[in-house]
Amino acid sequence: MGEADADIIDGLRGAGLIGAGDVALEPLTGGVSCDVWKVETPGGPIVVKRPLEQLRVAAEWHAPIERGASEVRWLRRARGVDARLAPEVLAELPGYGFAMRFLPGCPVWKDELIAGRVDADFAAAVGRGIAAVHAATANDTADRDAFPTDAMFRALRVDPFLLYVAQREPELAPALYALADDLVACKIALVHGDVSPKNILVGADGPVFLDAECAVYGDPAFDLAFCTTHLLLKAVWLADARLGEAAAALVVAYSAGIDWEDADGLLLRAGKLTAALLLARVEGKSPAPYLTDPEHKHIVREQARALIVAPQPIDALVANWKRILA
Ligand SMILES: Nc1ncnc2c1ncn2[C@@H]1O[C@H](COP(=O)(O)OP(=O)(O)O)[C@@H](O)[C@H]1O
Ligand SMILES: [Mg+2]
Repeated sequence: MGEADADIIDGLRGAGLIGAGDVALEPLTGGVSCDVWKVETPGGPIVVKRPLEQLRVAAEWHAPIERGASEVRWLRRARGVDARLAPEVLAELPGYGFAMRFLPGCPVWKDELIAGRVDADFAAAVGRGIAAVHAATANDTADRDAFPTDAMFRALRVDPFLLYVAQREPELAPALYALADDLVACKIALVHGDVSPKNILVGADGPVFLDAECAVYGDPAFDLAFCTTHLLLKAVWLADARLGEAAAALVVAYSAGIDWEDADGLLLRAGKLTAALLLARVEGKSPAPYLTDPEHKHIVREQARALIVAPQPIDALVANWKRILA
């Protein structure tokens, strides 16, 4: 056990979550940015998560560990909107770590999709869940002030997904720089920032959102675009049109929850962001690990480039995606 792990264990003791005896930290597989452990405690299993200084990705990528604090704030705020949407935070620990309740028997949505269990109703529930957090936090000064995390969002989202690609694509650069400027300037609602199927558990009462390290007060269209992008990429990878249907269901359900601004404006912003994120997932700093087939990459790249030049609202974009799956 390392010294840092000893800190974590002291923190868990200090919070009264574990006793004086031995305790085992069982690593949970998953992300590139954190240590995540499962720990058995007298009060039941918990998850302990602590951000890493250096992300485990191929390209050099640093991020301040304070992002652990934003994650805790997002999880608590989402539970305030609807307690089913996020795990309960039990304690904050040294080094911006925290403990949360372990949710037993809840598969990761990504694994379900890869196993061929594609449930459009669940995708719709994901859309409703994200929209609920956006609606509850839209145009709220307190929420805005609680997430002064623009620098983090820029480092973890705007730079790697938009600017990195812009630097490599001179033709698309003006559109991508403009998109990045708009995204940074937009302050409408509390954004999770990493709504990906690998960060959503399939709970008995619907989706449970994890991993909110990139949370920022910003453009709600980003969350919609980010999750939709993953479904569209998986549709190409798995050649499964049901994933396109799931994306459509997510967008419809999300749209029904937009009560804070004109839906058309948001759907167009989300369409632009989806186009850019699709390209970023084949050319960016954080490529989708499963999209390795050159033909798949070519299809996504060409579609994304066309959509950056001639943007479509996300609902139309998703409907048209079917054609490339045919
Ligand atoms: N509260 C929880 N209950 C059950 N499993 C969890 C919980 N939190 C995290 N996990 C598991 O650990 C994995 C990684 O957690 P996540 O918060 O996404 O960290 P990372 O930043 O490393 O991706 C998740 O994909 C999930 O399988
Ligand atoms: Mg994760």
